[in-house]
This record gives sequence, C-alpha cells and structure tokens, in this order.
Amino acid sequence: MTAGRQTPPMIDPFGRAVSYLRVSVTDRCDFRCVYCMAEDMTFLPKREVLSLEELDRLCTAFIEKGVRKLRLTGGEPLVRKNIMSLIRSLGRHLKTGALEELTLTTNGSQLARYANELHACGVRRINVSIDTLDDKKFKAITRWGDLHKVMDGIRAAKDAGLQIKVNMVALKGVNEHEIGTMLEWCHANGHDLTLIETMPLGEIDGDRTDQYLPLSMVRARLAEAYTLEDIPYKTGGPARYVEIKETGGRLGFITPMTHNFCESCNRVRVTCTGQLFMCLGQDDMADLRAPLRASEGNDLLYDAIDEAIGRKPKGHDFVIDRRTKQPAVSRHMSVTGG
Ligand code: GTP
Ligand code: 5AD
Ligand code: SF4
Repeated sequence: MTAGRQTPPMIDPFGRAVSYLRVSVTDRCDFRCVYCMAEDMTFLPKREVLSLEELDRLCTAFIEKGVRKLRLTGGEPLVRKNIMSLIRSLGRHLKTGALEELTLTTNGSQLARYANELHACGVRRINVSIDTLDDKKFKAITRWGDLHKVMDGIRAAKDAGLQIKVNMVALKGVNEHEIGTMLEWCHANGHDLTLIETMPLGEIDGDRTDQYLPLSMVRARLAEAYTLEDIPYKTGGPARYVEIKETGGRLGFITPMTHNFCESCNRVRVTCTGQLFMCLGQDDMADLRAPLRASEGNDLLYDAIDEAIGRKPKGHDFVIDRRTKQPAVSRHMSVTGG
C-alpha cells in the first residue's frame, strides 16, 4: 500500500495540526523500570495485538492524513518479533518524502543487534532511555536491565551513524545527583540529553510522590555549575532545549508537571491493539481495529480517525501529591509508549 490518497489534514478542535504519530508496537518489555511498571505485569494476550501488516496499513493511513513524523515505541519496540520487517517497510515513506522522520524510543537492550539495519531502513535518530550510568543503580531502576548491554547498543548505534538522544527520568533521591555526570558523558560522546518529569500513569509498586522531582529545581541547580542558553532547536517533541556553553551540547527539558506544553501538542498515539489515544494524560480513546478490519479500503478508518481527532482534549490534568493516591490515568506508560 502506498501513501497516495489526498485526505484532509488532521486539525483538532483547538486548531492544532496532528503531524506526529507515536505507535506502541508492543506493550511488552524486557525491563521493569520502577516508575513505569509493576514487577508482576499482565500483558495483552497476543491475539488482541495487530499484526505487523495491520500496523503498516494503519501507519500508512496516518501518513496519508498528514503525519510527517512516526515514532515506534513500546514497551520495548525491538522485542517485538520481526519488528525490522515493519521498520523496513515503513522506510518506503521516507524515500517518497511522505514521511520526514521514522524513529524509535528504545531501552537500548537490543540495539547492538539492530543498529546497522535501522540505519539501512532510513532511521537517523533514536531516543534511548538511561536513567543512571551506575550499573548497580541501573539494575535497581530497571529491575531486569543490564547497563553494559545498553552501552554496547549505544556504541553500535553511534558507529552505525545514528544520532542518539538519551532520555533520563529525573527521580528524587535516586538519580538527582547524577544529572551533571550524565550531561558530561552524553555531551562528550556527542549525544543530546533530555530530562523528563515523572508522570502519574498506571499503578506502580512505589509511591510517586517520593520519586517526583520538578525540573525547575534541576534547572536552577544546573545553572550554578553551567551556563544554560535557551535555543530554538525543535524536534517536534515536547522538549524545550538549552545549549550548555561549557560542553557545547544540547539539554532538553520535558516538563509535563511544572510547565504544561499541551497548547502546542501535535501528536496522538496508537497502541498495539489499534486504540487511538488523543492525549497521553486522558482515558478517552477510539478503537481503530474494528474499522481497519471491517474492509480492505481505508474509508471507514479515515472516518474513525477524523471523528477521534475531533474530540482531542485540550490537555492533561496530571497531579502528583500526597493527597492524590490514584494515578491520573490507570493504564501504564508501556501501553501508549509515552
Ligand atoms: P523527540 O522526537 O526527540 O522530540 O522525542 P519525544 O520527546 O517526542 O519522544 P520520547 O519517546 O523520547 O519521549 C520523551 C518523553 O516525553 C516521554 O516520557 C514521553 O512520555 C513524553 N511525551 C511525549 N509526548 C508527550 C505528550 O504529548 N504529553 C506528555 N505529557 N508527555 C509526552
Ligand atoms: N513518567 C515519565 N516518563 C516515563 N517514561 C516511562 N514511564 C514514565 C513516567 N511514568 C519514559 C521512559 C522513556 C520514555 C518513553 O518515557 O523512560 O524514556
Ligand atoms: Fe520498559 Fe521503557 Fe517501561 Fe522501562 S520505561 S519498563 S524500558 S517500557
């Protein structure tokens, strides 16, 4: 299937154009990060999950509707069986120019294996989640992860010519004193770094109030040691960037809690079962699997997408405090991939 048909672009009720699609290709993961999952997770039964061919068709329909940036997420996208066949196939939209960027957010565990092939498929930039450079702490945060494997993956990705952005969730009392070290390491190796405020998604084993660290505080602390200069650099994601004068590298801040960026939201997400979530922080969703499977043509699918975009909410209502015991939304981050 090619991206050929001209369909009206996706504009939501607040005038925001949707040009960025995040697709969670699996809810499974080979890590169990403490802020993301409980250790004992129940995953979706495989029969509920869209086939790779169906995911390709769904992504292609969104590209026809104006998506220019496609990010595969998870769970961990690279643990899905045969995932490279989907990535290779989606790469055709880069060749035609219909898609500007095909990328993924990964925990890095499988990168050593796939880095070269990703580059060959047209991927040029990836985001890798690493919250600490201390291997014992890495194990404590990810429960099941191996930092050495991730580092091998990052090296392989760099050698393959992929630009890397490291995602670090800022966690109070866990990695808050390692941000400078991470910054130095990233910039010395040519990687961008993005810091993320932890968001209340899904039940986890611990208390989020204990983990939450406002990035306004991190920024103030960093400013005592470094010179931060706001820069207009944009990737289409929610991060706002500064350049660190001393290292010459870029640092991004993703601040859903302290500074809401919803007014410029350009994205929606699809889960591996074909549910379209119009906002990461709201429960409302539209089922796209039924219209996808109902006919070979895409008209029903386009209608379902248009109807859903027509009710994209203004933004999220995240709160983390001692009085708010329930997460803002009950599903885990691994369902929608962030
Ligand atoms: P770039 O293309 O590099 O800008 O990536 P990105 O920030 O769009 O994607 P990534 O998967 O690296 O996400 C980083 C963090 O941003 C994750 O914690 C996501 O959950 C969060 N994020 C992305 N989009 C949104 C959003 O619309 N709302 C909120 N609250 N968080 C988001
Ligand atoms: N809050 C903020 N970021 C999260 N991530 C996973 N769970 C959460 C959460 N509750 C991050 C991961 C990854 C990105 C997709 O989202 O670390 O970098
Ligand atoms: Fe897996 Fe990413 Fe969640 Fe960690 S944050 S458990 S790597 S999906």
